[in-house]
Amino acid sequence: MKQFISVADAPGVDPLIEAALAYKADPLRDKELGRGKRVGLLFFNASLRTRISTQVAAQQLGMEAIVFNTGTEGWALEFADEVVMNGHTVEHIKDAAPVLGAYFDILCIRAFPSLSDKEKDYSEYILQQFIRYAGIPVISLESATLHPLQSLADMITIKEHISPARAKVVLTWAPHIKATPQCVANSFAQWANAWDQVALTVACPEGYQLDEAFTAGATVTTDQEAALANADFIYVKNWSSYREYGQVLPVAEDWMLTEEQLRQAPGAKIMHCLPVRRDLELAAALLDSDRSLVTKQAANRVWSAQAVLASVLNTINSKT
Ligand code: CP
Repeated sequence: MKQFISVADAPGVDPLIEAALAYKADPLRDKELGRGKRVGLLFFNASLRTRISTQVAAQQLGMEAIVFNTGTEGWALEFADEVVMNGHTVEHIKDAAPVLGAYFDILCIRAFPSLSDKEKDYSEYILQQFIRYAGIPVISLESATLHPLQSLADMITIKEHISPARAKVVLTWAPHIKATPQCVANSFAQWANAWDQVALTVACPEGYQLDEAFTAGATVTTDQEAALANADFIYVKNWSSYREYGQVLPVAEDWMLTEEQLRQAPGAKIMHCLPVRRDLELAAALLDSDRSLVTKQAANRVWSAQAVLASVLNTINSKT
């Protein structure tokens, strides 16, 4: 792979899952692949899983990983073209990105959306400018619209627990106290739709429908109860409104998933990308039950990152 910012960059969902599971079975099988190579992990936003799992994956491939919390430690970057920089920004992306391109072989970026400017966020203006000016392969650690390393880990986790030939997977909206990005939900829908092992239903309150660019091919409904019936996997996630961009719209019904709502899905496994707000997004009793796959999903982030880094390294190595 030349970059990894969405499922469109993948050589197919199954080959990446297979590569990830091979690393899970034998973490050091390619311990020399990244020898002499360096990956930069730039965070504009906080992280636990993404940061550590990607560092572990890089280490297992023999790479050096350098983390930079640019959102709190770096110079304020300017992304606008032809602007007189007499405000709070100190360095232009056109100057900073090539420097990073000189330091690293691969650049990984986490940059959340503003949730105030839909057009700008959905143009992926931060990620795209790193791609444009860094001159090296870029991997998304969660961008304004997508979280592909998370989605790959989610698909790996489903693959490990799937029993029917084609599983029913429900992505269900959850309550939250503040506006959160649509990235995880968009990305999960995009990957599930690209994978023939699952049939996806997206359930959300009116006004919370996601961008159809990501959900096309899935069943989209505002009837959570009907959606959950006979589900094999239920992915719980909050997101703010896409239509009323970044807004938290009032919702009359209680959408938090509890044991009671699973009467018609007795075998369903519960998924969430974490971090999760207990008893707000998802019942604590479900998180603590045997149904929960959340820790396994988080653990699979290592193999997801390792498969992706290895694929990008193979592309780099094939050119040298
Ligand atoms: N799921 C996930 O991306 O977790 P972090 O925000 O902790 O990296």
